[in-house]
Amino acid sequence: MRLDRYVSQASGTPRTQTTRWIAGGLVQVGGRVVKDGGAQVVPGRDRVRLRGADLDPPGHLVLMLHKPLGVVTSTETGNGPTVMDCIAADLRRRDLAPIGRLDKDTTGLLLLTTDGGLNHALTHPRRHVEKAYLATLDGQLCADAQARFAAGIALADGTLCQPAGLELLTDRTARIVLREGKFHQVKRMVAACGAAVVALHRERIANLWLDPALPPGLARKLTADELVALGVLLPDPNEVA
Ligand code: URA
Repeated sequence: MRLDRYVSQASGTPRTQTTRWIAGGLVQVGGRVVKDGGAQVVPGRDRVRLRGADLDPPGHLVLMLHKPLGVVTSTETGNGPTVMDCIAADLRRRDLAPIGRLDKDTTGLLLLTTDGGLNHALTHPRRHVEKAYLATLDGQLCADAQARFAAGIALADGTLCQPAGLELLTDRTARIVLREGKFHQVKRMVAACGAAVVALHRERIANLWLDPALPPGLARKLTADELVALGVLLPDPNEVA
């Protein structure tokens, strides 16, 4: 591919800017400064550096963010801090977008990707991808809450939910597993059973758990094992189970 396209995609910077960087001698290929944006490079084979730092080959990016309290799941600026503000500069891409959304006051696992197909696959209602939440409750859930969750609860406005899991962990905390993603769904399901959610944390999407070592407010790339857990990569056939 063309060097200017590689640098643009790998750095998330418009081609007009990267053309200037290249002409200005800021880009090296295989240790040599290359000033021609039209030079050909092979992603994964040629080592491309910008201002002395390696540029990962362009390709789709999948990030795990430990979403902190108080940030909005949005790519738009203007309404206070967003999840995009949590992404380190070297991981930012113009086409990076959250996969689904968490409320401003919900914490935990949020995925972001540049891969529109993956985003669609993980959020499409017909895919029924599991999402597990830890909810801290105020008030008493009705006695048949678990059965109502399992049967598919009707919300206050009549909206019918898919069957969901409810496991009481203590008298104030519950694990809730959804296979869909309606607006404020956990809060509205809990409210339909007579209690309120005072804190909500997402711990899992499909078979991918939030890394307990990832501090709130930080994001990192998924590992190959995590991409397998998400169903993006096939398991390594040489790996003994
Ligand atoms: N359900 C909610 O009520 N809020 C979230 O952020 C996610 C699920």
